[in-house]
Amino acid sequence: MTETISGCPGMKGIILAGGGGTRLRPLTGTLSKQLLPVYNKPMIYYPLSVLMLGGINEILIISTPDHILEQFSGCWRRVRLGLDITYAESPSPRGIAQALTIGSDHIGNSPVALILGDNIFHGPGFSSVLQGSIRHLDGCVLFGYPVSDPGRYGVGEIDRDGLLLSLEEKPVRPRSNLAVTGLYLYDNDVVDIAKNIRPSARGELEITDVNKVYLEQRRARLIELGHGFAWLDMGTHDSLLQASQYVQLLEQRQGVRIACVEEIALRMGFINADELYLLGCELGNSGYGSYLMEVASHAGAA
Ligand code: G1P
Repeated sequence: MTETISGCPGMKGIILAGGGGTRLRPLTGTLSKQLLPVYNKPMIYYPLSVLMLGGINEILIISTPDHILEQFSGCWRRVRLGLDITYAESPSPRGIAQALTIGSDHIGNSPVALILGDNIFHGPGFSSVLQGSIRHLDGCVLFGYPVSDPGRYGVGEIDRDGLLLSLEEKPVRPRSNLAVTGLYLYDNDVVDIAKNIRPSARGELEITDVNKVYLEQRRARLIELGHGFAWLDMGTHDSLLQASQYVQLLEQRQGVRIACVEEIALRMGFINADELYLLGCELGNSGYGSYLMEVASHAGAA
């Protein structure tokens, strides 16, 4: 059951869970957006599971001050996953790239994976693609997803080998249908790059400007997530509901769990079967808890 993983040793993770979730009001009146339910688990389980599948266990969660940080730490105090989770505040959100300056101490001399707190990535073979990209990281790796409305996103154009040829933020005339998703892998140069970019016309530190520096150095790759893959974000009431329905459909039909962070912690060797069994017992009254106990028993829990 336990995978032998060889991600990038010491790669750090950052989940950007900031922002007021204004498009999701009134849902976000009392609860942080990234803790809203997506079918049967909090939204943040989905990006967290991606970092864990990459073999990353040192993770910084960046959020806005006030009750939000308390909500997050309360959530993870209850779930012991063999992770080293820390928190940082983003007093006034100023663009995705701000996560890299806020997180510079956490990153230290390591490479880093940055993921947006409202993104779901799900599809066959994703963990090996991710682990392979981390292992061979040189510069930056982005993940592209074909969409029907690319003008709403960062849009990348690649050559046959996946080298990024052009990158534009929300172009009026997109050069491809490949949206840049909210998962970014960087070598340690990103700390200096992020420090030196200027705010855009809308006053934000744009992640696209960071990626363009790597593009100019011909050290940016974009991996296309193909057909049969799901990339969902959950910024609106409709997309939140659709994400829940997607997870419900697959989980019920296949009897598997998507983004089950406790199960992934076992699979990646962060916890053992006995520890998983205990986590299951704590949730015992729910189908989720029974599932964890069953997985733990199969894996040899005493
Ligand atoms: C941001 C990025 C964009 C990327 C998108 C992914 O856009 O700027 O390049 O494609 O996230 O969700 P935003 O959602 O902030 O408009």
